[in-house]
Formats: sequence, structure tokens, C-alpha cells
Amino acid sequence: MAFLGLAYDLILAIISCFFIFMKWNEIRYRKKGLPPGTMGWPLVGETSDFLKYGSEFMKTQRSKHGEVFKTHILGSPTIISMDPELNRYILYNESKGLVPGYPKAMVDILGTNISTVHGATHKHIRGSILSLLGPVAVKEKLFPNLLKCVKSFTADWDGKTIDIQEKAQEMAFFLAFKQIFESESRSIYDSFKPEFEKIVSGTLALPINIPGTSYHIGLQARSKVIKLSREIIKQRRSSSTIHRDMLGQMMSDETKYPLNDEEIISQIITILNSGYETVSKITMMSLKYLHGDLKALQELREEHFGILGRKEAGESITWEDYKSMSFTLGVILESLRLATVVNGVMRRTTSDLELNGYKFPKGWRIYIYTREVNYDPLLHPEPLKFNPWRWLDKKLESHKYNFLFGAGGRLCPGKELGLVMISLFLHCFVTQYRWEELEGEEMVKFPRIEVPNGLHLRISKY
Ligand code: HEM
Ligand SMILES: *[C@@H]1O[C@H](CO)[C@@H](O)[C@H](O)[C@H]1NC(C)=O
Ligand SMILES: *[C@@H]1O[C@H](CO)[C@@H](O)[C@H](O)[C@H]1NC(C)=O
Repeated sequence: MAFLGLAYDLILAIISCFFIFMKWNEIRYRKKGLPPGTMGWPLVGETSDFLKYGSEFMKTQRSKHGEVFKTHILGSPTIISMDPELNRYILYNESKGLVPGYPKAMVDILGTNISTVHGATHKHIRGSILSLLGPVAVKEKLFPNLLKCVKSFTADWDGKTIDIQEKAQEMAFFLAFKQIFESESRSIYDSFKPEFEKIVSGTLALPINIPGTSYHIGLQARSKVIKLSREIIKQRRSSSTIHRDMLGQMMSDETKYPLNDEEIISQIITILNSGYETVSKITMMSLKYLHGDLKALQELREEHFGILGRKEAGESITWEDYKSMSFTLGVILESLRLATVVNGVMRRTTSDLELNGYKFPKGWRIYIYTREVNYDPLLHPEPLKFNPWRWLDKKLESHKYNFLFGAGGRLCPGKELGLVMISLFLHCFVTQYRWEELEGEEMVKFPRIEVPNGLHLRISKY
């Protein structure tokens, strides 16, 4: 009898443990006044639903709970906001305890960088970035070099079949790399590039550090990139050559924004990382949309042949020519919008806050989810239609709920640089080539746009 009782107790204990385990997240994060929503499984929360069902998960949760709801994703309790007014408030009011808060995997792999610091440190690092690649630097320094790089990159594609997803990533990386290390050799480029791919795929993984996980591989790649950068800095210190590239500027005694070696390496990683995904995906998607819209493609070609028509033979296009490419800008912004290359930005609370009548506990993440705004029919009539012309009305770009490049004190400092890179690419590409898309490539849209087998284009001379 005693034995049976013990077995019974044991079973009861196991059942209640299991029950508590299943409900652990709900119990742990229970608190009055939180936004509605569910917290999912212990540790992983709702991460797998979030990554697997992506924007559908977001829409379902919104229809159940409203524009502001709680969940547990990517290792942290998170409040998701799709309320444009609240999002605007958060982006513009960083000093009220709403600092950037990226998932642990990203912070570990990308390190302390401009997006992880705030206050005076942020001001200093951002000043440095802006002096290296902000609009003035692009206009006065980088433009001719970028043009040269894009030209050489797209020079010999006639008759080839290329994977534009891969090529666009290569280009984004190559362009950034060449601005940082103008004179370093091809072999250094070749050793940086694969490490960077590992870094990028590690940042969106769960932070589980065992051999074989993307996170683990990302961390290793980070160490390698740091080591390579240190060697380059050391070599440069021991030589008397003056370098006029970004690394040279950061190492110069005359810089307005002095950085130590750690900070210089962070800036290198930041610059290589931040344009990579956005610039390459916009490039790929713009070609995809143009391929399906001959009218837009024709108008784009007219804009670029118009510019070339005003040039002497061999004369290069200038910054002013770039500034006149208004339809091109429309194509870029429309591709960014329609494909939703940026789903949102992340913040973290540094104290208990009350927003929209809900408690936002200290230390929670806030996901400012801006994807839905991209398909808002009031802001973008016929939202699912590729319509670059809508951006010719400049009011749309400066609309108060347009967060395509962020907003407030963290507005993307690389916006102009990114726009120049893509514009120059489109210029070189549509004036030299026509292309056919090979059929049957499946596209993943969330959490990032991806064509698992590549997007193959057959290219021929225009
Ligand atoms: C053209 C495509 C691009 C898009 C759509 C884009 C988008 C964004 C967005 C939405 C943010 C805000 C992040 C936040 O609030 O936490 C941001 C920040 C940032 N972007 Fe970009 N970006 C682009 C290109 C670039 C390029 C080419 C660079 C530099 C190489 C760059 C460097 C940065 C940096 C350093 C920040 C952080 C700013 C800060 O925290 O003060 N971006 N970008
Ligand atoms: C920032 O906060 C202040 C005070 O709470 C508020 O008046 C202002 O509207 C906020 N900024 C934005 C852009 O929402
Ligand atoms: C900086 O690091 C954070 C996480 O550490 C990452 O999310 C962000 O993209 C990085 N920012 C840039 C501009 O590289």
C-alpha cells in the first residue's frame, strides 16, 4: 500500500512539475497592467512561431490582442508595438529610458557598437560614423570611388547567368570594404568575406553556444575578424604610408572623433555589417520588381540614358547627376517598402514605464514593428502594387510615420551612402544590360528576405 501511495505521489509530482514547466513563462512574467498577449514556452517563448510564421504570427497576435501586445521571443520578454504614434514616441524619446535593445545573439556577435551605446558615448561614435560616411562625406569624398567600384564590379556580366542575391551581397560588402581598406590586398578581402557571412547568420539565432550552432560559428567569425583587423592596424602603424580611406581617417591624429583600437574595430564591423543586408536586398528586390514592370523599367532607363546623353564621351557622372535621379530614388524606396527589407527596430526599457496605459517593465525589449505601416492603404493606396511614382510626391518620404530608415536620434546615418550605392548600381546595370529571370525560385519573406536557392538572372548586352 505504502508503495502505491509513493508511486501516486511521484506521478502527481511529475504532473505538477510538467504543468508548472509549461506555464512557467506565464507565471514568471505575470504582473498587473501589462499589455495583453502570451509568453509561450520556457526559455524559447514564442520564438519558433515568430521565426516560422513571421508576419502571419504578428497579424494573428494583433487581431487577438491589439496593436500593442506582449510575447517572449529571441530570449527575452518583449512588447511588440505596431501603433505608429507610440512607435514615433519611443523613437524620439530615447532619453526617457528607451534605449536600443538588440537580442543577445546580435550583441554578442556584433559587439559593442553604435547601436548598443547611448548618451554621450553614442554622440561620439555617431559623430565618427557621420564624418566617415554621412551625406557630406559621400558627396565630397566617397562618390567617385564608389562609382569606380560599382563600374568595375558590373563590368563583365554580358552573356553570364548570375545569382543576383549573391552578387548584390558581394557588392554591398565590396563597396563598404573598399571604403574602409582602400589599399589592402585582395587576399584580406577574401578572408574577411566568408567570416562576415557567418556573422550575419549568427545574429538571428538563439544564443546557444555549442559547436555547430550558427551562434557559435558567428562568435568564432567575430574573433577572426577582430584578429585580422588588429593585424592591419598594426601593419599600418609600423609603416609611414598615409592612407586616405576610412581606416586611415580613424587612425589619424587629426580626427575630430578620436577612437581607441577596440572602438575602431567596432566601427569596421558596424560599417561592414550595417549596409550588407539592407543594400543587397533592396538591390535584388528592385531588379525583381522591375523585371515584372516594363513601364517602370523603361522610365528608369530613360532617366539614366538622359543623364548619359548630356555627357561627353568618357565623362563620368557626378554627385549632381545622382541627385537628379528622382525616379531611381522612387524605385529604391518602393522596393524597400514593398519588400519590407526592415521589419522594425528594437528598444529596451531602462526603468519601469507606463505607455499607452500599459506597464512596460524595466529590462523588457520593445519591438517597434513597422512592417504593417508599409501596407497601410491610407498611406500607400493600392499598397501591394509596385508603384515607384508614388515617391515623386516628396511628402511621402518625410511623412511622420515613415520609419524606413528609422527616426529620431538614431535615424540611419548611412541612408545617403546606401542610396548612392544602389543608384549607381542601377545606373550601370540598366544602361548596360537587359536580363531574364530564371523561373521557379522560391522566396522567404521573414524574418529576412531570402531566396534559398538564389535568384538567377540571364544577362545580355542592352
Ligand atoms: C539603404 C539601406 C538602409 C536602410 C533601409 C537602413 C535602415 C536603418 C534603420 C531603420 C536604422 C535605425 C535602427 C534603430 O533605430 O535602431 C539604421 C541605423 C543605422 N544604419 Fe542604416 N540603413 C541602410 C543603409 C545603411 C548603410 C549603407 C550604412 C553604413 C554603411 C548604415 C549604417 C547605419 C548605422 C551605423 C545605424 C545606427 C545609427 C545609430 O544608432 O545612431 N545604414 N539604418
Ligand atoms: C516625447 O515626449 C514628450 C514628453 O512626454 C512628448 O511631449 C513628445 O510628443 C514626445 N515626442 C514624440 C515625437 O512623440
Ligand atoms: C550593433 O550591434 C547590434 C547588436 O549588438 C546590432 O543589432 C546592430 O545591427 C549593430 N549596428 C550596426 C549599425 O551594425
